[in-house]
Amino acid sequence: MRRAKISIIGAGNVGSTCAHWAAAKELGDIVLLDIPDRAGVAKGKALDLACCGPIEEFDSKVIGTSDYADTAGSDVVVVTAGIPRKPGMSRDDLIATNVKIVKDVAEQVARHSPNAVMIVVSNPLDAMVYTAWKASKFPTNRILGQAGCLDVARFRTFIALELGCSVEDIQALLLGGHGDDMVPLARFTSVHGIPLDMLLSQSKIDACTQRAKVGGGEIVQLMGTSAYFAPASGTIQMVEAIVKDKKRILPCAAYCEDAFGVAPGRTGAGYFIGVPCVLGSSGMERVVEIKFNDGERKLFDESVQHVKDLVDVVRKTFPELA
Ligand code: NAI
Ligand code: 2OP
Repeated sequence: MRRAKISIIGAGNVGSTCAHWAAAKELGDIVLLDIPDRAGVAKGKALDLACCGPIEEFDSKVIGTSDYADTAGSDVVVVTAGIPRKPGMSRDDLIATNVKIVKDVAEQVARHSPNAVMIVVSNPLDAMVYTAWKASKFPTNRILGQAGCLDVARFRTFIALELGCSVEDIQALLLGGHGDDMVPLARFTSVHGIPLDMLLSQSKIDACTQRAKVGGGEIVQLMGTSAYFAPASGTIQMVEAIVKDKKRILPCAAYCEDAFGVAPGRTGAGYFIGVPCVLGSSGMERVVEIKFNDGERKLFDESVQHVKDLVDVVRKTFPELA
């Protein structure tokens, strides 16, 4: 059987940790790419990781490079290129720098791996997925953003800490953009099938919800830069679903027009929003819709409006991406 080829653009904290999880799970051969000035970092990290193979028992090839020719024909490309936030910054503060980087990267990916599924991680996530879509001209099923897998994992972790039970027994749902106005949905969250509100008081549920929403910022404050273990783990959860054609339902930033009422009846004028979707070998295979109550609808619409405002900034900065 042919091995999958997974390229990761950006060999910084998130990119190299993605390579780590992908190799440990033996998902395919891995190419780690960074800019020419950091080719040594990409090559060094790749070599270091390759040398884990004999110990961890994986046969994935891992190479580092600054040459897109080495990424040619990738099945999945993960884009982590760009600057992360520092304490006091919001994800939105990164837009001016990262839109240029993600645009260039997406154009290169489209040239060298025209059939790949592209997963964008760079922030501000929802605007960067849009940028990559416009710059690559990929069909919408082959462009996704990673945020929901991370954000829902944080939500599950905080609930498990509160209950003193295994994270594995928490099923949770979280939608919307990857900002502090993301929408964790306690009504669709359960513990081994038991509705959350049978086990936790409303004030404790609210505290877990709030901690999930600002979980990225909590880590930035603690360590001076943004998180990377869980972001990379969430990204590789998506990669695994795609390369193994698992049809998993995962929360991803996926293109929505009619879905969830994001841009009803406006063909080609949709946005990438965090929603549950089925992931398989062709990328995003289907959005799974749910029915909101009035309160949930209001929170979701506010989060979507924030995404639309960010995308407007991209369109104004680069009219060719409009
Ligand atoms: P980092 O600074 O450790 O790594 C970024 C890497 O991108 C650097 O090695 C840099 O040289 C490289 N890079 C810059 N321009 C490039 C280009 N044109 N081509 C190829 N590589 C390029 O940053 P980190 O922590 O890895 O974060 C990366 C991005 O991911 C940031 O924008 C961060 O905000 C975002 N992020 C998103 C998350 C999510 O859930 N969506 C979670 C965590 C981080
Ligand atoms: C996070 O949520 C910074 O988006 C990144 O950790």
